[in-house]
Amino acid sequence: MKQSLQEGIIVIDYGSQYTLLIARRVRELGVYSEVWPFDDPRVDLLAKGEIRCRGIVLSGGPGQVRETGAPQLATGLLDLETPILGICYGMQLIAQEMGGSVDEGTAGGEYGRTKVNIEVPRGPLGSLEAGSSTTVWMSHGDTVDELPAELEAIAATENGIVAAVAHRQKEVYGFQFHPEVSHTEAGAEMMKEFAFTICRCEGDWNMGNFVESAVASIRETVGESDHVICGLSGGVDSSVVAALMHRAIGDRLTCVFVDNGLLRHREAELVQEVFEGHFGVDLRVVDASERFIEGLAEEIDPEKKRRIIGEIFIRVFEEVASSIEGARFLAQGTLYPDVIESVSAGGPSVTIKTHHNVGGLPEDLDFLLIEPLRELFKDEVRVLGRELGLPEESVGRHPFPGPGLAIRIMGDVTRSRLKRLREADDIFISALRESNLYDSVWQAFAVLLPIQTVGVMGDKRTYEEVVALRAVTSRDGMTADRAHLPMEFLGKVSDRIINRVTGINRVVYDVSSKPPATIEWE
Ligand code: XMP
Repeated sequence: MKQSLQEGIIVIDYGSQYTLLIARRVRELGVYSEVWPFDDPRVDLLAKGEIRCRGIVLSGGPGQVRETGAPQLATGLLDLETPILGICYGMQLIAQEMGGSVDEGTAGGEYGRTKVNIEVPRGPLGSLEAGSSTTVWMSHGDTVDELPAELEAIAATENGIVAAVAHRQKEVYGFQFHPEVSHTEAGAEMMKEFAFTICRCEGDWNMGNFVESAVASIRETVGESDHVICGLSGGVDSSVVAALMHRAIGDRLTCVFVDNGLLRHREAELVQEVFEGHFGVDLRVVDASERFIEGLAEEIDPEKKRRIIGEIFIRVFEEVASSIEGARFLAQGTLYPDVIESVSAGGPSVTIKTHHNVGGLPEDLDFLLIEPLRELFKDEVRVLGRELGLPEESVGRHPFPGPGLAIRIMGDVTRSRLKRLREADDIFISALRESNLYDSVWQAFAVLLPIQTVGVMGDKRTYEEVVALRAVTSRDGMTADRAHLPMEFLGKVSDRIINRVTGINRVVYDVSSKPPATIEWE
């Protein structure tokens, strides 16, 4: 990524839950951006001037800069000529380093939407008017309560707390608030000023450049002769990783696709068409459906189902992987949000569902990991997939959980019930595509219920199963709203399912939102 980085902005992460958003906002401007943890050895090289970039952002963080042991600025960083923007914790670090003081302050912390007054429209605030006020997103306990001589306050909140600072001579700025969060009204404008006016970035970076630099860095990591294994699931992330790895190392990549019998209609075929047919990848398709379905026999507890599937998956994957000679690396489709959830989340959280996907492989699996999508968000991964020539059918697919249809079948998972659900789901998804509704929802699927109800078909009484349709809108799957699909459309889908799928005589629509429901039923 060297070429892009010289033209880009490095974000140094002090653990804020918003760090990823900073990099994303920068990339949205067409400027390359990477996030480095504060203790990454490259940060020292950056501070010594041995790695160059156009600008540096210091993120927020959960700590208090004045505490012993709190993450600090790398020595020399503030002596660089490179422009720096410190956000929240980052601003406090700058102020403290220059001799100012950071404390709890008398006014207390500020959380959520807050009005700030623009006093001196300089630096990243350059496009705003002196004397105007704007709404920003705050999330801090400590404040800079004494400014060092080199810094001047350029904005303050109505509580009189310093909201933004600028160095009197150098391109060093600090915001107590979070410009990267969408609730900060003029946040995009501020990031733009920083990137273009201050850092003088070009704004000509795009996913094509990402492919180039990612390919170069994969080649450097893997070397001239090593082989890589990549687990394909049919989902967007693993497909994009496979396509990217293939672009980088060609036939030194072997993909493994485990058919667990719990897949959507045409999942296995699509993977084969795309990867064997189109890309010519060495693809090992393992039909382990018998093993999974036997393993699940008569299990109706959602968590136990997930665990059974996770364990069988690991075993199958290990068996296949050990039969592939010379492979030292395992490529995974870990995304930015996955990284941040496991790194920055901090503190114990309750397990709502045990998520299982290829990322759930055991640590003692004897491979070095390559995770080329670690810097990207889901929608960026889709853009990357298109750039790599993956068909829309793969790239634009709704998310699909690792345990597959097993957690969409309430009760017993049997071959006949799987077939029933797969058919109903395909009718629903095809109808969404036909009516141009597929892309307007974040995820849609059918669920098979563990009850039978009475119906009448022809002149005969039926006593058959029920399918629930689920369609949600969402940004990231963390929260979701029921999709407002037209009743006429739902009626058409219901008629088709009941008429075409044997064993189903009733269709219902799930109108719950998340929370309190979850997207999947199990
Ligand atoms: P829930 O049901 O928790 O789902 O609201 C949020 C998103 O995560 C997907 N999901 C999973 N994905 N392995 C996965 O890879 C899993 O075990 C799993 N469970 C849920 C779900 O489809 C939705 O997109």
